[in-house]
Amino acid sequence: MIIITGGSGQLGRLVIENLLTRVPAHQIGISVRDPSKVTDFADRGLRVQQADFEDENSLIRAFEGGSKLLLVSSNAAAYGGDTLLQHRNAIAAAKTAGVERVFYTAQASTAPDAYFPPGLSHYATEGMLAASGLAWTSLRHGFYAASGMHMIGDGISSGVLRTPADGPVAWTTHEDLAEVDAALLAGVEVIDGPVKLTADAEYDFAELAEIASGLLGHAVTQDLVDDAAFQAGLIGKIPPMQIGFMMSYYRAARAGEFVKGDGALARLLGRIPTSMGDVLEARFGSRSGTP
Ligand SMILES: NC(=O)c1ccc[n+]([C@@H]2O[C@H](COP(=O)([O-])OP(=O)(O)OC[C@H]3O[C@@H](n4cnc5c(N)ncnc54)[C@H](OP(=O)(O)O)[C@@H]3O)[C@@H](O)[C@H]2O)c1
Repeated sequence: MIIITGGSGQLGRLVIENLLTRVPAHQIGISVRDPSKVTDFADRGLRVQQADFEDENSLIRAFEGGSKLLLVSSNAAAYGGDTLLQHRNAIAAAKTAGVERVFYTAQASTAPDAYFPPGLSHYATEGMLAASGLAWTSLRHGFYAASGMHMIGDGISSGVLRTPADGPVAWTTHEDLAEVDAALLAGVEVIDGPVKLTADAEYDFAELAEIASGLLGHAVTQDLVDDAAFQAGLIGKIPPMQIGFMMSYYRAARAGEFVKGDGALARLLGRIPTSMGDVLEARFGSRSGTP
């Protein structure tokens, strides 16, 4: 059986839908904090077990009978929680439950010296997996295109993207990542250790502003501000922890932490991955500027 955590989330849901095209429903189990969010999957014959990353025993029960596990990374640190403790619980539970291979969703920034905090916690989690004795695959996902849209949406609407200096990012869609995650879970290929899964095209915010200008038929420009001024402008508007997180994005982007991989996503998809340019075009119209 293949067990999926985070099955109520954006990525987990898409992975499950893709997996259902490859394996029968009764061979898929969902480990989820709130089973009422996945009654649709239960109705389609998937096994649903309640479990929380905070509670190792609940995870052991939910992983029971699983040979492969998709551990969708926790975002607990963004809410003041302990991401690494949660990952430690999940990996220990996988071992106790007899899981053979853990597939973990890391990110392109994964490194021991990353400026982007999730890159550090993904690196530490990969270390836990390596020490666990379990077989493991780390799916180092490109920066979500949906997150990018969230970051630039207001600027595109207003015509001015006011940001610190940034850098190239291989924005990648949940849809492409879920398709390949599911293929690997189903066993199309066995990859040991990390694999970087990103779109092939990289864009910084100035390039995205230029594309948006062409699509919308009115100017969208990047207004560069220095880090200190940008940071000062955020005080009182968002929680202090989020300010630090946001500033880390710009430092990391400048350092190239979100650049593309070696084409593994395209190879496994068998096509060119959706680019951020494609995402903008789908949202705002054709690139010729015609409606
Ligand atoms: N590649 C990137 O650029 C990028 C960007 C942002 C985030 N991420 C990471 O990718 C992960 C998946 O992304 P997503 O878009 O699918 O996020 P999402 O829609 O927020 O889904 C997160 C999933 O994690 C579950 N979860 C949260 N806390 C849990 C806990 N204590 N125990 C068990 N399950 C828990 C959530 O369950 P509930 O429905 O019960 O809340 C939900 O199913 C995120 O959690 C984050 O770590 C990556």
